[in-house]
Amino acid sequence: MRPTVIILAAGLGTRMKSGLAKALHCLAGRPLLQHVLDAARGTGPERIVLVLGHQADVVRKAADGYRTEIVLQAEQLGTGHAVRQASEAIASASGPILILCADTPLLTTGTLAALLELHAASRAAVTLISAKADNPFGYGRVVRSASRVMRIVEEKDATAAQKKIKEVNAGIYCFEKKFLLSALGDINKNNVQGEYYLPDTIALARKKKLRVAALLCEDPNEVMGVNTREDLSRAEHVVQRRTNRRWMLEGVTMLDPETTFIGNTVSLGKDVLLYPNVRLEGKTSVGEGCTIYPGTRVIDSVLASGVTVNDCSVIEESELAAGATVGPFAHLRPGSRIGPRARIGNFVEVKKSIIGEGSKANHLSYIGDATIGKDVNIGAGVITCNYDGFEKHKTIIEDGVFVGSDAQLVAPVKIGKGALIAAGATITRDVPPEALAISRTPQDIREGFASRRRRMKGKKGKT
Ligand code: UD1
Ligand code: CA
Repeated sequence: MRPTVIILAAGLGTRMKSGLAKALHCLAGRPLLQHVLDAARGTGPERIVLVLGHQADVVRKAADGYRTEIVLQAEQLGTGHAVRQASEAIASASGPILILCADTPLLTTGTLAALLELHAASRAAVTLISAKADNPFGYGRVVRSASRVMRIVEEKDATAAQKKIKEVNAGIYCFEKKFLLSALGDINKNNVQGEYYLPDTIALARKKKLRVAALLCEDPNEVMGVNTREDLSRAEHVVQRRTNRRWMLEGVTMLDPETTFIGNTVSLGKDVLLYPNVRLEGKTSVGEGCTIYPGTRVIDSVLASGVTVNDCSVIEESELAAGATVGPFAHLRPGSRIGPRARIGNFVEVKKSIIGEGSKANHLSYIGDATIGKDVNIGAGVITCNYDGFEKHKTIIEDGVFVGSDAQLVAPVKIGKGALIAAGATITRDVPPEALAISRTPQDIREGFASRRRRMKGKKGKT
């Protein structure tokens, strides 16, 4: 039976000490809420209901693209009170009610499926997920009697003996609808925090002699709640390790998986080699046999096969064709297309430009709004002057052009096929094919000037 999912995301997350609602804090580059939404969607739910409160309008946006309904919890009076806001959705559900928290992002669809299965098989009024934690501090503890789950006691309400219990409540439950509706009316706020605790429903089920089941999750990481920034960093590691492991199994080499970040919308080919401290983000795809050296960040870009990215480069919204080489210390800004076997070298910035097959800009250049043909050589320090303070202008460089070092190409300008631009030239007009363009003030030699000057300055100068 398809579950109705309720995700609790109304809290501010006080322990995050943040201006941003907790559900919006990013894990592996995406809001916590989206991780939970993905797991929820995987269960094939009848409906997904989000309970929102703090920054509801912004949190709602993070759920764009997911089919959800929103209910508001104006005041955060506890997890039980939060679920009560979704009473209507619960009442009209045809299957079980699955309750998730926006701050438990590592939960997998597989575990949720196991929860639903156990719930159905045990015909329980409520089935919860628990885990054995090395450090259970902060979690509700699962109190058992002769192996039966009796109730959950919150950290703040626990006795010294209860605090020693290692089995913790994950805050994720599957409820039988009728029981949940009645229990929501029965819970009170007679506890240290003065809140309506959803976990109190467990003791209520016991009191009514209804069945309670518990799924003990093997991997405590999976049910980890993110309450503090420290938890967030720990969760980040877990996601990273999961993703990296998957890619290594797919044939990617990582010299240091601990410092390699691969976003969940990234794809990698076989025999990709990633050095330490590489970050691949957004919709990036890296083709077979690419090598990415340390300290590089690639965002929303496509690298065809056999591309080499040398150390400390930044590549954004760009495309690199097979065998292209970039860096070290290169910056490809949005809209750059680097052709097959082309080379963009150290301290070169490329913006919204096309670099043709086999062309090279190896040192210290700025190439913006340019279309460069095949086998062009861009000398050291060449600059396209694309901006006049008001508008951007285009530079066109045709096949086989040689641009000497330190030339400035003042756009709009076009350099014809096979032309030669002399070193240091300032090019302000179009250059015809096969021509030489040179623009230098003639060199002036003054014999003996240097030694005369030294003598005049009072013999201080040493030869
Ligand atoms: C909760 C459980 C605890 C469990 C832990 C697992 C309760 C009382 N305690 O504690 O047993 O071990 O989760 O991570 O449920 N929320 C609302 N409205 C509210 C209060 C909370 O929407 O009025 C949401 C929060 O935004 C959050 C989730 O519910 O996403 C859990 O709330 P939180 O305050 O983090 O509960 P914990 O103290 O972690
Ligand atoms: Ca929590």
